[in-house]
This record gives sequence, C-alpha cells and structure tokens, in this order.
Amino acid sequence: MTEAVTALPAFPFRVRTPGEALDEYSKLRAEAAVTRVRLPGGHEGWLVLRHAEVRTVLTDLRFSKEAMTRPDAPRLIPVHRGSRSLVNLDPPDHTRLRKLASREFTQRRVETLRPRVEEITAGLVDSMLAAGTTADAVTALALPLPITVICELLGVEPAEQAQFRQWGDKVLTVGGPGADADAAREAAGALMGYLTGLIERKRARPGEDLLTRLLQAQEDGDSLDAEELRTLAMTILIAGYHTTVSAASHLLVHLLEDPARYQSLVDDPELIGTAVEEALRYSQVAGGFGSLRIALEDVELGGVTIRAGEPVIPLINSANRDESVFAEADEVRLDRTDNPHLAFGAGIHFCLGAALARLELRVLLETLVARRVPLALGTPVDELRWHLATAFPRPAELPIQW
Ligand code: HEM
Repeated sequence: MTEAVTALPAFPFRVRTPGEALDEYSKLRAEAAVTRVRLPGGHEGWLVLRHAEVRTVLTDLRFSKEAMTRPDAPRLIPVHRGSRSLVNLDPPDHTRLRKLASREFTQRRVETLRPRVEEITAGLVDSMLAAGTTADAVTALALPLPITVICELLGVEPAEQAQFRQWGDKVLTVGGPGADADAAREAAGALMGYLTGLIERKRARPGEDLLTRLLQAQEDGDSLDAEELRTLAMTILIAGYHTTVSAASHLLVHLLEDPARYQSLVDDPELIGTAVEEALRYSQVAGGFGSLRIALEDVELGGVTIRAGEPVIPLINSANRDESVFAEADEVRLDRTDNPHLAFGAGIHFCLGAALARLELRVLLETLVARRVPLALGTPVDELRWHLATAFPRPAELPIQW
C-alpha cells in the first residue's frame, strides 16, 4: 500500500455515538461536497456529503448498484454474490422486478394494513406498561413491531414467527457487535429453505397475505418465478426489519431526550406526521453503508472527477443535516414542513417499504401518546451505548420509565 493511500481517512470512522459521526461529517461537508477515503480492504473511494450531490448519486444511473455484486467490488456490508435482489440490480432487471412488487407497497395498499398494525402496536405498548414502570424500549417495542408486521405480511404462521425472527436477527447482526459470520450464513440458508417451503404452501393454499398476492402478481403477462419471489421475500426482511428497528429507536431517543418535546406531541398529536419525518431526517438511521455504488464511467461531481470503477458512498445522514437545505439543520423541529430528507433514498431504488415504515412509526407514536403516560428516558442520552458498526445503527438498549 502506498503512503498516499494510508494518509487518507479510513471509513467507516471510529466513533462511539451517532453525534460523533455527524460531527465528522459536518467538518468534512464544510470543506467539500465529495471527499476521498480509504475503505476496508484497502480500496479507495468517495464519500458524498452534501444534499445535492448525495441526491445525484442516488438518482443518476451512471452510479450502479449491480456493479457492487462483482466478486472484486469493495463493500461495507456483506452482499450476497449473484443475488438477484431488487436492491442490487440496475435496469432493465430492476425495472421489471420493481414493477411486479410495487403495487403491493403503495400508500393505499399499505393503509389497509393500518387496523392490524394498530392492534399489534397496542398489544406491545399495553404489555410493556402493564409489566412495571421501566422497560427497554428496544426489546419491548422497536424490535418486535417490525418483525411481527413482516411475518404477517409474508404469512409466516404464528407458531413459526419466533424461529423466523431468530434467523432474521442472526443474518442482520453481521458487521455489528457479537457478529458471527458462520452463524449468519447458516441462518440465511435456513431462511431461504423456509421461504421455499412457505412459497410452495402459498401456491397450494393461497392466503390473504402479500406473498400470495405477489405469487399471483402479473404485469403485461409477466410474473415472478419462485426464485425471484424467495429473493424478494428475503429482501423485504433484510431491508424492512432492522432499518425500522433503528428508526423506531432513534425516534424514541429524540422525542424522550427532551420531556417538553414528548409532551408537545401528547398535547397535539396532529404533530405526529411531521415529527416522524423530522426524526427520520435527524437520526442516523440508514448509515449509508448499504447505498454504496460504483461509477460506470468518469463522472464530475462536486468539484472532483470520479473515475469509472470507483466506489461512491452517498452519505444520507450527512445530506440530511445540510445547512443549505434545512434551516437550523442540527435542531429537532417537530413541526418542520419543508423537509426533503433522503432517509428513504431517491430515484429508482427509493425505499419500496417507505409507506409501511411511516405507518409503523406513526402508529407507534399515536399509540404511545394516546396512553397519556409521562414517558421519559431512563438513562441520560449521552450514557446510551450504541451499536454503530452496522448498516442499521441503534442504541444497544433504550431504558425508558414512566
Ligand atoms: C424507517 C425504516 C426504513 C428506512 C430508513 C429505509 C431506507 C431505505 C433506503 C435509504 C433505501 C434505498 C437504498 C439505496 O438507494 O441504496 C431503501 C430501499 C429499500 N427498502 Fe427501505 N427503509 C426502511 C424500511 C423498509 C421497509 C419496512 C421495507 C419493506 C417492507 C423496506 C424495503 C426496501 C426495499 C425492498 C428497498 C430496495 C428498493 C429498490 O432497490 O428498488 N424498507 N430503504
């Protein structure tokens, strides 16, 4: 390795809290829109820090996700080689799969899930409140809510949900603390086997679930084959589970760290819609690791030339704090209406599950504030321990009290 390579800052940065990471991004963003870094494994690449340039990388097809699945490509999180997942495809394959999947995730379709999401959330909140006066909100709320919703979407039988969740947790802690690559591989294999069986069962006995509807989905005479459906189900689990856990945990941290902030929602639940968007903007939810792309040709961006073949990381969390786009970007403003945050990405890969994630986060807040319980953090925010070296940063635990 040359001296020039070792002199570059190493990304991901070594930080202990999301605030420290944001401070690093803020310093770099003040200097340049795009900066060069060294990635794990010695590759050099580009960090993109400002809103306009992050948006360009997310939307401009000269930056490819599919190229990231090549065996020698640099990566920040494991990518299943040869996987035909939506997240890792470029057009035209991406266009075809997305068209088949997207009608099940429209705002209208997702709203039909609201009564059941409300029921699941009420069950979790009421059991937590009934069990005492303190709880870990990660274990009691943030983890079980999204996985229960995903299990029901896919039609995983209640008796099989605990096992399904265990496999999901093993696959998704890769790169994080206590990660065990062998256990993750084994769990991914078990999940794929389980999904194959589940799809067969749905084919034989169609249900009321998303998997059945995707199995029946037709667009212009085209449909998903069993392998595509299995990969899509796996993608929904991977993209929809710990992202939402992370978002729900951050949402609660930022609302409860200031009791007046939480009280303002209890007093005026109309604020919940903008409060959820503000938490998505303000929090370090999607770490950006999963959004790495490879330039397919030389591209001028933010004053530098990105060469064909180079990795590019659009740092969504940095873009969401760009002072040139967001007034008082480092302040939480629950009533912020002009909020073009990029927490769900942009362009053709814009989060397929955004409407569902928003529904879950809104219902969680609606359910909590409706109980009118004076919730507060049980630990000062600067004493929280964080899982940061993962694609889905979140507090290890989130003690709350009432
Ligand atoms: C608050 C929670 C969530 C956040 C912050 C989030 C964030 C994102 C982001 C940033 C992307 C784009 C990645 C890129 O362009 O590189 C994405 C894509 C995606 N998300 Fe989400 N997501 C969340 C929840 C969900 C849920 C609940 C589901 C499904 C049930 C889901 C399914 C997907 C899928 C399938 C993609 C790939 C879309 C494509 O490539 O066309 N996500 N998400």
